[in-house]
Amino acid sequence: MNKEKVNRVVLVGTGAVGCSYAYSLINQGVAEELVLIDVNEAKAEGEAMDLNHGMPFAPSPVHVWSGSYQDCGSADLVVITAGLAQKPGETRLQLVEKNTKIFKEIVKNIMASGFDGIFLVATNPVDILTYVTWKESGLPKERVIGSGTVLDSARLRFALGQYFNVDTRNVHAAIIGEHGDTELPVWSHTMIGIEHLDTLLKRKEDFKKECLDDIFINVRDAAYQIIERKGATYYGIGMSLVRITKAILNNENSILTISAYLNGEYGQNDVYIGVPAKINRAGIQEIIEIELNDTEKEQFSHSIQVLKETMKSVI
Ligand code: LAC
Repeated sequence: MNKEKVNRVVLVGTGAVGCSYAYSLINQGVAEELVLIDVNEAKAEGEAMDLNHGMPFAPSPVHVWSGSYQDCGSADLVVITAGLAQKPGETRLQLVEKNTKIFKEIVKNIMASGFDGIFLVATNPVDILTYVTWKESGLPKERVIGSGTVLDSARLRFALGQYFNVDTRNVHAAIIGEHGDTELPVWSHTMIGIEHLDTLLKRKEDFKKECLDDIFINVRDAAYQIIERKGATYYGIGMSLVRITKAILNNENSILTISAYLNGEYGQNDVYIGVPAKINRAGIQEIIEIELNDTEKEQFSHSIQVLKETMKSVI
């Protein structure tokens, strides 16, 4: 195999989120090499064994092994899902101190390997931990990406697809802001197929704007609802991380609502937050500055304020 064509992904954290990502990555045949790292080395080893046993049924071969931070040296992408997860009733922001401490250590170890690729962060509170990763790593902001509101946008697209009885892949809708309680839907730019949401609501009077407000509340609170029922969320976020991974490794120029560093965009500075951005092999190629309406602008600013306030304790 041509060495230059081999994509190496290192996954740090083989808990439920990390393993859902690994499983989905293998089944979609995205990378050629997948290295698993966990504080619990036996767990990473066992996961690598288990995943390898499915290889005869994978769309393309993936070399999977449990490795060490040294394996990050030649990695294209390091995905971090390590850290503590939300308990029932706990907000994402309440995890900030403990997970920041864990992250500083992890990022230091990764950088000591000579890593010079792209970081993809999923651990909560994801916007703040992506900022911590950027700061600690010293890598350009374009190469440090958080999963942001990719999953929230997917949840919204799914729910709208159900409501309008349309294939969710035909629903173009986005949630931006904090991946958490202050996120917001961008109704002003929502398209169902090739029809603007407002036009559709006028054309079909059975559909009501009030129902959309309820749909958003359910999307925003989806993680709480799932955690209450099964203790954790992992398939949705695992598949969201694979979607971002594909955009990067396949140089797709895909537009996804990842967590990106704002440096003047949307009139904001020095914060990582969910915004639409064009993602390719270089990381964040461009932050898309869509025109928000007044309500959206206000909600977005509030989201930024809350993140900045929470960050003060750890940065
Ligand atoms: C969720 C976790 C990833 O929203 O925060 O499911």
